[in-house]
Amino acid sequence: MNILGISAHYHDSAAALVVDGVPVCAVQEERLSRHKGDPAFPLLAIESCLQHVGIEPNELDAVVFYERPMLKFDRILTCALRAFPQSWRAFPKAMKNSLGEKVWIRGIISSHLGVPGRKVLFTEHHQSHAAAAFLTAPTCRAAIMTADAVGEWATLSVGDGERLANGRTTIRRFREIRFPHSLGMLYSTFTAYLGFRVNADEYKVMGLAAYGQPTLVEQVRKLIRRTPDGAFALDLNYFEFHTTAEHCYSSRFIELFGPSRNPYEPIDLDTAEGRRFADCAASVQRVLEDTLVQLARALHEETGLPDLCLGGGVALNGVANARILAESGFERVFVPPAPGDAGCAIGAALYCDRICFGNPDRDLPDHPFWGPSVDGSELARLAREDGHFVEDCYDDALIDQIADDLAADRIVGWMEGALEFGPRALGHRSILAAPHTTEMRDRLNREIKYREPFRPFAPVVPLEVAARYFDIPPGGTRLARFMSGVFPVRREWRSRLQAITHVDGTARVQVLEPAMAPRLHALLEAYGQRTGIPVLLNTSFNLAGEPIVNRAVEGYSTFLRCRIDVLVAGETRVMKRTSAMTKTPVNTLKKEVA
Ligand SMILES: [Fe+2]
Repeated sequence: MNILGISAHYHDSAAALVVDGVPVCAVQEERLSRHKGDPAFPLLAIESCLQHVGIEPNELDAVVFYERPMLKFDRILTCALRAFPQSWRAFPKAMKNSLGEKVWIRGIISSHLGVPGRKVLFTEHHQSHAAAAFLTAPTCRAAIMTADAVGEWATLSVGDGERLANGRTTIRRFREIRFPHSLGMLYSTFTAYLGFRVNADEYKVMGLAAYGQPTLVEQVRKLIRRTPDGAFALDLNYFEFHTTAEHCYSSRFIELFGPSRNPYEPIDLDTAEGRRFADCAASVQRVLEDTLVQLARALHEETGLPDLCLGGGVALNGVANARILAESGFERVFVPPAPGDAGCAIGAALYCDRICFGNPDRDLPDHPFWGPSVDGSELARLAREDGHFVEDCYDDALIDQIADDLAADRIVGWMEGALEFGPRALGHRSILAAPHTTEMRDRLNREIKYREPFRPFAPVVPLEVAARYFDIPPGGTRLARFMSGVFPVRREWRSRLQAITHVDGTARVQVLEPAMAPRLHALLEAYGQRTGIPVLLNTSFNLAGEPIVNRAVEGYSTFLRCRIDVLVAGETRVMKRTSAMTKTPVNTLKKEVA
């Protein structure tokens, strides 16, 4: 049975194909259209999925959209009417957006793909999040919590899931919290207030939070109160996102927190203003964490289960995830590689397969690599045409050479196999570098990523030695599998892991099991043999404002436009002519460590 899942028309569109109960391909539209966060109907992603298995649209048994457009329309209409007359400006825009595309999605899918309307199905948005979190996790029974800005009406849901011995699957929802009361919208409101882009830059707020103190927690708590039933409610006097598309926060919000940040001015942490913004970030981060921990703890007490599956965009908050693991009572916390709306494409398809069609349970591959594969020969051809130094070498020799490059402080663009699904580079489309010095961090920020200096870089470490360098609690390696948790760097290693240690002594570490990305694992070992520390800095392979690279040509284009020294795709290694002339000695660090 071939089931296509689609998420689209909000942000970060994606498609995923499930064949006989197992995902075979999933890709975000932005990776193919090269338009970051592309919300368009994901025609390129759909085409890529169908090509991957060589089927035509008429061979699809079902196409599942990741939310119910009419319910969403109902929410937008109801909110606009409730807020009238303040909403009169926003009303036509909201109607145009909804009526223009979202409400008529069955017809749009039907006409684009040529499939009959009866084959187009819908799941609820938080059902899609729940399925993406639970059905991809290696657990038979778990509590499920999903949290995001908003789907149709729900903004947070709690429930459980079970894969039964008879092959059937259940996913239940116990309760939900509804718009406009939303943890995601609370965080996004601060994202806007701090001058960042809503639905895109929330992770910058988390990065900034480490530089501040939660001195404004009491003020943030005025915005959100706990309700007697254990849920929460926002004080809507401080917000405007529910009445207008123009602003997230009201004048009362400004009275409480002071003037908002001008997005075009850098945050200077040496000024009182800069520290106030950092304190705002720290305070909303603390309140978000506290609320999630309390909700998770209550869910643990209610279900008595050891496992929790977390979904929705809020599950991208690695600091909150680590606290949930430490404080809620759950022994294991599973976050999929794409917990946000893109991941709903897989969730919707799997929900339809297991729940709507009642197909039997399947063990799913436990990795994030569902996209198109890279072609090393394409890179070799492009680079030779431009006169760069190109080597084709087999596995061990290539790994040794790249380990030498990294130990010589060269920055490596690393492309391997199938593209990651989700926002994080997990070892197939990564920029790799030595993690030891602040100079390397500053060089990456200045010459390659062109981004704010307060944002940390992440490390990758082999599973076998992760505990030597990072203080990871029981269950934490699971959270770190897809870089979903933030944990302390062990104090004794911080001076030698400066480039990946955040200002508060933590890191968003990826703990790599050998089977998930064997070549990267071999590279980490080879690097460890040279330097004594098998840890690398691993940041997504893209420049600021661009999506993560997909094909060799995009990696090559990025390589030419910034100061990456070495580019690898498959078995092809390319070195810039300038880098080849400035080779620095290998093993200098090893001597220092010894
Ligand atoms: Fe969502």
